Amino acid sequence: MQAHADTFHRFDLRVAFAQDPERVRSLSLVAPHVLADLSKNHTDAATQALLTELARQTGLALHRDAMFRGEPINNTEGRSVMHWLLRQPEGTLSGDLAAPLQQVHDTLKSMLAYAESIRTDAQITDVVNIGIGGSDLGPQMAVLALQDFVMQGKRFHFVSNVDGHELAAVLKGLKPENTLFLIASKTFTTIETMTNARSALAWFRAQGGQDVSRHFAALTTNVAAAAEMGITTTFGFWDWVGGRYSLWSAIGLPLAIAIGAQGFRDLLAGAHAMDQHFQSAPLEANLPVRLGLLDVWYRNFLHYTSRSIAPYHSALRRLPAYLQQLEMESNGKRVDRNGHALPYGTSPVLWGEPGTNGQHAYFQMLHQGTEVVPVEFIAVKKPTHQLADHHELLLANAIAQSQALMLGQADEGGHKHFTGNRPSTFLLLDELTPASLGALIALQEHRVFVSGSVWGINSFDQWGVELGKVLAKDIHARILSGETAGLDASSAALLQSVRLDWYEKGNF
Ligand code: F6P
Repeated sequence: MQAHADTFHRFDLRVAFAQDPERVRSLSLVAPHVLADLSKNHTDAATQALLTELARQTGLALHRDAMFRGEPINNTEGRSVMHWLLRQPEGTLSGDLAAPLQQVHDTLKSMLAYAESIRTDAQITDVVNIGIGGSDLGPQMAVLALQDFVMQGKRFHFVSNVDGHELAAVLKGLKPENTLFLIASKTFTTIETMTNARSALAWFRAQGGQDVSRHFAALTTNVAAAAEMGITTTFGFWDWVGGRYSLWSAIGLPLAIAIGAQGFRDLLAGAHAMDQHFQSAPLEANLPVRLGLLDVWYRNFLHYTSRSIAPYHSALRRLPAYLQQLEMESNGKRVDRNGHALPYGTSPVLWGEPGTNGQHAYFQMLHQGTEVVPVEFIAVKKPTHQLADHHELLLANAIAQSQALMLGQADEGGHKHFTGNRPSTFLLLDELTPASLGALIALQEHRVFVSGSVWGINSFDQWGVELGKVLAKDIHARILSGETAGLDASSAALLQSVRLDWYEKGNF
């Protein structure tokens, strides 16, 4: 495979198109709600065949099927990985999975009934989601993405950071009797969320708020911890749902309130359609498989270390942040499933902004920089507004950028020279709806599964976030006490400087 990759320093997209009139057709794929044009990528028919063979050799299909059978493939935590079960239609599984599926639907029904009751409750004008990571990014991204489906008359706020500026700014505009706080935390131990939740409760009581059970609900697998905090209205989920895969669970409640029960069911149906495609399409015609294998090809064989996400739809502006957690928390691993150090790279760096804004910021580097960065364009054919000329321009820009990256421009002088031959993928949706968003997100989940599987890593744990949490506790205690014994010199100096300002100069 590396020998084939080594020939790619001579590969030129322009030549590949000239030599193969069928290139677009053979490298385009249709999956539920998504048309994918992969033809502007640094691959050829031989690459496709070799990557499919790599998937076969690494047991991708077996691993996928094990996930869909509910086997504990999250081996470091001894858990099944069943976010897909959250979008499986009711009553469609037998055997061991029949009972969990029924629990999923019982919980879904009560959550959606609650969402509908909040939608018709005119007294509640503000819904505040307090959560971080997967308990924030998914619902926040989706509420923004589906803003045209969001009900009128309610505002939706998302507070994630422990930085008090965030909560304080939101609370400033609220009245307790008109506010519903959703405390979203799978574990109900996350320090940021617990701190924000306690402060929100204190604010609610200090402002004369009365009924905590009406104005606070917890979305969590740890109902007991929520009850300890005095929150008794709860919607549960299960330890087999990873935080970054939890949009489809009770964590999706803010979205369900925003777009309604039917909208939320449509989102699940779109995702389920993509699950079925992932399970049943042959590897060659399976879009998550093709994208995940392309990611491996770029990372390990052509050594491209990042991917730029370019959603040409302003409502998808939180998608890059959402995908960062999905991919980098899942696949940012340096050991295999058995804990052995890997001799190859894993997760690329993901980054991006909506088009056309990115064009006027960092696209310079994409076109003329020294690094090759594959770009993933995401565009939507039909807008929800009437400003047709805007949308024509927007889509023209998306296509033109992928074209410019590929074609380049000759210029003897140098500064206006574009080398071209820069790779991109183009994902096209007919419309941005709950169903198509569900399919798009499930597609991204599964492509992350595919690359993680080929790399032989556990994509479903996140031990890498733990050390910082432990050290922050220690530093917090030291900030209060002033004790620096045993600290490294840099951290001690920073701590003393902070304390000097706060406690000695009285700046706090
Ligand atoms: O610290 C990382 C993490 O565990 C993420 O995986 C998760 O999405 C986030 O924190 C929030 O966790 P929780 O929902 O348990 O508060």
